[in-house]
Amino acid sequence: MVGVRWLVVAAAHAAIAAVGPGRIRDALSGTTIDHDGLTARDSSDTNANNTKPLRCLQVTSPMLTPDGMFVDDDIVDPRPFGYSPKSHTQILMEHSFGFSYGLPFVAEYKAPKLDFNRVILNLTVVSQGRQFDRLATMFLGDVEVWRTSTAEPKAAPGIVWTSWKDMTHYLSLWKEPQKLIFDLGNLIDDKYTGRYNATLTAIFVREKGIELPPPGPADLIVPFSGRRSASNFSSTFTYPDSKAESQITLPQNIHRAVVSIAANGQLDEEFWWSNVPDEGTHTFPNATLPGLSSFREIRLRIDGHLVGLSWPMPVIFTGGISPPLHRPIVGLQAFDIREQEIDITPWAGLICDGKPHNFSMEVVGQNEQVVPRYWVLSAKIFVWYGAKRTVTEGSTPHVCLTKLNYVSGVEVKENEYLRYNQTVSRKLIVKSEVRRNDYEKFYDVKWTQEFSMGNAGLVARQGDGQMVWALYRGEDKAEEDRWNYYQSTWKYPVQVSYLAGSDPVNTITLDANLTQGEQRNVSGEAVFPTGIESWRWKLKGRAKLGIVSTNTQRSGRGFFYQRNGGKESGGFGDMMQTYELGGQWFRGDEPTSDPDDPVLYRREIWVANETTTYDKQSVWMAPAEYPVSVAEAKEAVPGSGFEFAPALAKGMGGGSNHFYKGTLGRP
Ligand SMILES: *[C@@H]1O[C@H](CO)[C@@H](O)[C@H](O)[C@H]1NC(C)=O
Ligand SMILES: *[C@@H]1O[C@H](CO)[C@@H](O)[C@H](O)[C@H]1NC(C)=O
Ligand SMILES: *[C@@H]1O[C@H](CO)[C@@H](O)[C@H](O)[C@H]1NC(C)=O
Ligand SMILES: *[C@@H]1O[C@H](CO)[C@@H](O)[C@H](O)[C@H]1NC(C)=O
Ligand SMILES: *[C@@H]1O[C@H](CO)[C@@H](O)[C@H](O)[C@H]1NC(C)=O
Ligand SMILES: *[C@@H]1O[C@H](CO)[C@@H](O)[C@H](O)[C@H]1NC(C)=O
Ligand SMILES: *[C@@H]1O[C@H](CO)[C@@H](O)[C@H](O)[C@H]1NC(C)=O
Ligand SMILES: *[C@@H]1O[C@H](CO)[C@@H](O)[C@H](O)[C@H]1NC(C)=O
Ligand SMILES: *[C@@H]1O[C@H](CO)[C@@H](O)[C@H](O)[C@H]1NC(C)=O
Ligand SMILES: *[C@@H]1O[C@H](CO)[C@@H](O)[C@H](O)[C@H]1NC(C)=O
Repeated sequence: MVGVRWLVVAAAHAAIAAVGPGRIRDALSGTTIDHDGLTARDSSDTNANNTKPLRCLQVTSPMLTPDGMFVDDDIVDPRPFGYSPKSHTQILMEHSFGFSYGLPFVAEYKAPKLDFNRVILNLTVVSQGRQFDRLATMFLGDVEVWRTSTAEPKAAPGIVWTSWKDMTHYLSLWKEPQKLIFDLGNLIDDKYTGRYNATLTAIFVREKGIELPPPGPADLIVPFSGRRSASNFSSTFTYPDSKAESQITLPQNIHRAVVSIAANGQLDEEFWWSNVPDEGTHTFPNATLPGLSSFREIRLRIDGHLVGLSWPMPVIFTGGISPPLHRPIVGLQAFDIREQEIDITPWAGLICDGKPHNFSMEVVGQNEQVVPRYWVLSAKIFVWYGAKRTVTEGSTPHVCLTKLNYVSGVEVKENEYLRYNQTVSRKLIVKSEVRRNDYEKFYDVKWTQEFSMGNAGLVARQGDGQMVWALYRGEDKAEEDRWNYYQSTWKYPVQVSYLAGSDPVNTITLDANLTQGEQRNVSGEAVFPTGIESWRWKLKGRAKLGIVSTNTQRSGRGFFYQRNGGKESGGFGDMMQTYELGGQWFRGDEPTSDPDDPVLYRREIWVANETTTYDKQSVWMAPAEYPVSVAEAKEAVPGSGFEFAPALAKGMGGGSNHFYKGTLGRP
């Protein structure tokens, strides 16, 4: 979970025995780098008068609670239109994660008496000391409901963060007793002292007079996981060590079914998007670079039939590349990793026979080879029922999948540099006819997915320097009789450059630039919340936000150092991020183009050396804009866009940025 590219092999989830606490082996030179937060002497220690923990955050959409609209632990709209539903608050977990590998928190959950129709969670974590970032998963029984990770702590007064999650799509689980399992593997020793003290609170809400858009929460949620809750363990598959496979029997009266896949890489696979083509892994005789290209595909099969694909988002955790890039603003999705939705309704004819079916997943890279250790996988099936005691019928789906057209250009100058570019695209169409037996007719149902990647990079200096310029994009569509009932398009641009070295004072220096974005447009019957749920109350009786768009970008630079034989490490850096939640408004079936159509939420935040220098939030129709802290120090921050290190580009025989030209436009 931690640190620079392949400099880093850090403890994460289940891998602990292989790695050991807090040791990061530099695979290239054999030196050991402590790269676990900036505790020894970080920039904020010069501000020794801090009495409050540093508040870490992921920039995301606000959450409507009965107490108002929240961002982190701040109210940005106290009482939107007198919203005051009945609610019930319940603490689900208060737990200190110390020596917690293989020892998740386990509790029995019972639903409150309130007849609730909305569930939101507040996860608040405090930590002080030194510690790596850790991956965490939350399960209700065998169903994973939240995959998150931690910020890296620092010396007292430490850090705190509050992460909200709308859990309404799991409503059917929350209505029943459950075994709640929260797994956050952590280790404590003399040096790594940061425990993660976590409080998880659920707020159950009874909202009245708000029309929920279809499809509403699923009637049934079936786990496709390791199913270990009975022994008090979390149920992810550690792939490929364990096969991601499960025999699952589904109800026979399925109206619609959607599989969602949670997936992220660890160890050599954590930074898969910067792994190099296999042809270049031996550029430096003393160091093998992680390979299999920067293309990854997760394939979902039922009884061996390919039913859908997932291309993951390049999530960069808080120790990733360089820790100063992630404090206090953590990376995109670091606190809430999104899951790909795959509509499997076209397979109703196969899965509604009342018999067990073989659900399986695989993760592949270049040449369709299975990835090395390891990916953390789990999935579940959201089911909406048709009429009772009916059996849904369907034709054998017609599947059309384009061949993998991965192409790479690789230029190796042995022991000097590796320059590469890669493209790949993919299209999947699944079509069939389905008859729910409460209807006479067969409907044409269709699931379409399109993906593409462009990814160019340069590795030099024995692997101590790398630049990556990448864009991943995709589109998913579910149709019934040509009616597009779900559509999602996304773009994940990422540009990284880093250069490790040393100078007379520091045994290690690490300069890194990062620009990363996430853009998403969602329309129709999405399973997961889009962020507008918090506005439904305000949107009553108004035009409809037919396409929900989120668009965020973060850009910054971090400098990390280590001196005195590793006893002292620290760093500084800056980061700016913009975030917008809005989209396309519709009146009836017609898109409107009224310039006054509102953006629901907008935030711009700048931090330098862990101090927020500018933070402006606008909440649609809140009494005012909420500048949480505004300073005029913006100019001090280099801001979006960066140049690649000249030192890296030197000797490349060509302009410094030449290598990506023609492959990708600026994202
Ligand atoms: C810390 O507080 C003391 C007393 O208020 C003050 O003199 C000193 O300048 C402060 N130090 C910093 C780094 O802010
Ligand atoms: C979230 O949970 C924390 C920890 O219990 C609590 O201190 C905080 O007040 C909660 N925030 C809200 C807005 O309820
Ligand atoms: C975390 O919990 C432990 C055990 O209850 C406690 O000793 C420690 O002081 C707590 N740490 C923080 C930062 O609250
Ligand atoms: C699981 O945890 C619960 C609650 O801590 C405990 O009562 C139960 O005995 C445990 N079951 C197993 C199989 O370890
Ligand atoms: C590779 O490793 C050998 C043996 O440790 C060492 O002598 C040599 O200098 C290294 N080469 C480079 C380019 O670092
Ligand atoms: C399930 O499907 C996968 C993928 O086709 C296959 O490798 C595996 O052998 C199957 N398992 C069983 C028990 O049939
Ligand atoms: C890709 O890399 C190859 C080898 O370096 C190079 O010849 C080619 O021009 C590059 N293609 C693009 C589009 O940059
Ligand atoms: C989302 O929609 C907007 C407006 O139509 C468009 O400009 C943008 O490119 C779309 N983004 C994605 C990721 O498709
Ligand atoms: C952050 O700290 C570094 C090192 O002390 C300093 O050079 C830099 O100017 C600081 N940045 C800002 C924006 O204050
Ligand atoms: C980071 O960006 C700055 C400003 O554009 C540039 O001077 C520096 O060389 C870059 N560092 C790396 C490692 O690319």
